[in-house]
Formats: sequence, structure tokens, C-alpha cells
Amino acid sequence: MNKEKLAINGGAPVTTRPFPEPWLGPAAIGEEEAQAVAAVVRSGKIFRYLAPESSQCAALERLFRDFTGCRYTLAVGGGTAALICGLVGLGVGDGDEVILPGFTYVASPSSILICGAVPVIAEIDESLTIDPVDVERKITARTRAIMPVHMRGFPCNMERIMDIARRHNLLVIEDCAQACGGMYKGKPLGALGDVGCFSLQQYKVITAGEGGLVATNSRRVYERAAIRHDSAMCFWEPANTTTTPFPGENFRMNEMEGALACVQFRRMAEILSRTRALRRQIYEAVGDCPGIKTCPSTDPEGDCGITVALLLDSGDKARLFCEALKAEGIPAGSVYDKSIPDRHVYCYWEYVMEKSSHDRNGRPWSSPLHDQTRNYHPDMCPRTLAILGRTVVISLSQTYEDCHARWIAEAIRKVATALA
Ligand SMILES: Cc1ncc(COP(=O)(O)O)c(C=O)c1O
Repeated sequence: MNKEKLAINGGAPVTTRPFPEPWLGPAAIGEEEAQAVAAVVRSGKIFRYLAPESSQCAALERLFRDFTGCRYTLAVGGGTAALICGLVGLGVGDGDEVILPGFTYVASPSSILICGAVPVIAEIDESLTIDPVDVERKITARTRAIMPVHMRGFPCNMERIMDIARRHNLLVIEDCAQACGGMYKGKPLGALGDVGCFSLQQYKVITAGEGGLVATNSRRVYERAAIRHDSAMCFWEPANTTTTPFPGENFRMNEMEGALACVQFRRMAEILSRTRALRRQIYEAVGDCPGIKTCPSTDPEGDCGITVALLLDSGDKARLFCEALKAEGIPAGSVYDKSIPDRHVYCYWEYVMEKSSHDRNGRPWSSPLHDQTRNYHPDMCPRTLAILGRTVVISLSQTYEDCHARWIAEAIRKVATALA
């Protein structure tokens, strides 16, 4: 085995050329987006219900209906808003438990708490998504729903999750915030469960700065989500709803966001086809490297391909591997590092770990309908922390050229060989 001197030990790095920022949607923003937003601003019709027939938000909802195949879609102000509306749409509330993975952004458990339910944290497996075996283990009489989260573009094992949900009579809300455009066995993510929730925030596959969408095949779920998203929904569309009104929020999307998101949506296929090709190129080139494996995917074709994820034997090796890759000029990162309080890892969800709340009576935690013996602590999902600690990630962008993929693969091989 030819072991080159690593850059971390004073050798020559694989590259000294800086990588572009790993943006997806934001890197694609151009004149078309600018013109679409400018046209809305010039029209003066920046509120979606002012001119429903020409609404950009309504156009975006149609694009998402076509893409997901879901009968109903609702544009909202963000991914968190989409999750709240989705949960309310399903009827999740006080006394309910929702099972979600220990690896997701803190907005996922927040949305559950905001609805009056409590999160139950399940382990992930090496796919970096929720472990169906642990989901089944964590079901109680209070469990109402499962929230699989397609983190970093990785599809969850939806076959197993839907099977568990059916057998235990549970609802499924997919958090697709980080996987817009991803597929699972030929079906779009977000269209497999009872409701799918998307985010259009800056760091996502496509963006409007902020924004989100809810997708469902259920008229009832849609109506409830729409009422929650706008306290005046029953006045905008009185003839169309059969659901008895209840208090809502203001989670409306505005027309500038709608216009920007429509243009971005049309770029989505191209963005993902490029990231998938880049990742395929890298994975093919490093498949036989010693001492590492790529995180297994539940559907390599449907996966968004926006993350290279490598698994090492131990946390120490992963940390060294990551530092060595960085020295070679590769923008690698770790997922769980005790020195970085990353809100994507459950042990850093302070208000869950400490069961704190804005409510002076401590709701929803203190509700008599909840299990008061349920507690949380940072070590409660040791397998999740161990897997994340052994993982090294490299984010990909459609702006990367073939040389970037070559450098990534070359550096992974060089480091793996040297450390073997
Ligand atoms: C997995 C996940 N869920 C939910 C959200 C919330 O989305 P938003 O920031 O649009 O409210 C995010 C955003 O980063 C996320 O990554």
C-alpha cells in the first residue's frame, strides 16, 4: 500500500484551491428569480389572498401537488410552521407522544411541543435516519404519530415505518425539510406518510429565504392545517371548508417568497441530478478504501446526494480522519463533536432535556394527560451518539465541478490508506 505523507503531517495537500460554499438553491439564484420577485413587487399584490387567481403561492402549491402527487398542498412561512400545521392537521395534541429521531434539527421536537404533544426520542441506525426497530420499541399507549426525518437528503426506511404505523394504528408525518426533491423507491419524499412537510429556508435544496409546504392526500388534514396557518382561513375560503374553525396563527407565505420559490422549484431536478452524479462519482472511487464505509442508503437513487457520509470504526478515528481531510483541502465536518453544541443532535435540545417551557405552569410537560415519569437525559440514545461520533460528512453543491469530486475522492483514499 503506497502511503503518501498526509498534509496534516507536513505533506503536500491534495488541493489548495478553495471549494465554493456548499449552497444548493441559493447558489442557483439568478436573473429569473430577480425578475419573478420584481414582477410581484411592481404589481403591488404582495399578499397571497389579494388576487387568488394569479397568486404565486397558489402556483407553488400546484407545482408541489404535481411533484408529490398529493391532492392537497399548502404554502406556509417556514418548515417549522409546516410541521406545526401538519401535526395540527393530523389532530396531534395534548396527551399525545410523537416518536422522532435523535438526529434532527431542534425545530422538529419544537413543533411537537408547540402542539401540546411531547417528543419521544428514538435511535438512528447507520443510514443516519430513524431506526425502525427502536421506533417499535418506544411505542406506548400514548403514541399518536411517528415523525421520520430525511436528514441531509437521506431517505428514511419508509417501508418499515409505514408497516409499523399501520400495525399500531399510528399517523406518520414526514419531515422533508432537508430532502426536498428526494425519493424513496420511486415515490417522492413527503408523499409516503399521512402528511409531508418541507422547508424553503436558505440552507435547503431550494429556497425562498424562508418558507415551507405541507402536502397531504387528506382533505381533513389539509383543512385543519390551513386553518392553523391562518386565523382568517374561514373568511378567505368559507365555501370550501367543512371543518369547524378554530384559532390559527399567521403562517402565511407572501407573494415574493412564492414567486422566488416557483423559479427555484423548476431548478430542483437539475440541482439534484448534479449532486447525485457527484456523489456517485465519489462513492465509486472510494468503495474499496480501507477502514471506512459509506453510510448505507435506504435508496441510493432517490437519496438527494447532497451529503457524502463516511463511517469509521471509532469516534477518535473519525475526528482524526476529519482533521486529516481538512488539511488535504477538503471541507469535511463531523456530525457529533462534544465541543460543538449542535442543535441537530438531541443531547443539545436543552428545552427537551430540561423539560422547560414558556408556560408558567410548565405545559405541555405538566399536562395530566402526559406520562409525568417520562424524562430525558443526554445519554438516553447512546447508539445515536456513537454512530454520529463515528461519522464524517462532506456537503455537496451542484456548483462543484468534476475536479472537486476528484479531490474529495483522492483525499479520502489518501487519508484512509495512511491511517489504515
Ligand atoms: C430537519 C429540519 N426540520 C425542520 C426545520 C425547520 O425549518 P425552518 O427553518 O424553515 O422553520 C429544519 C430547518 O433547518 C430542519 O433542518
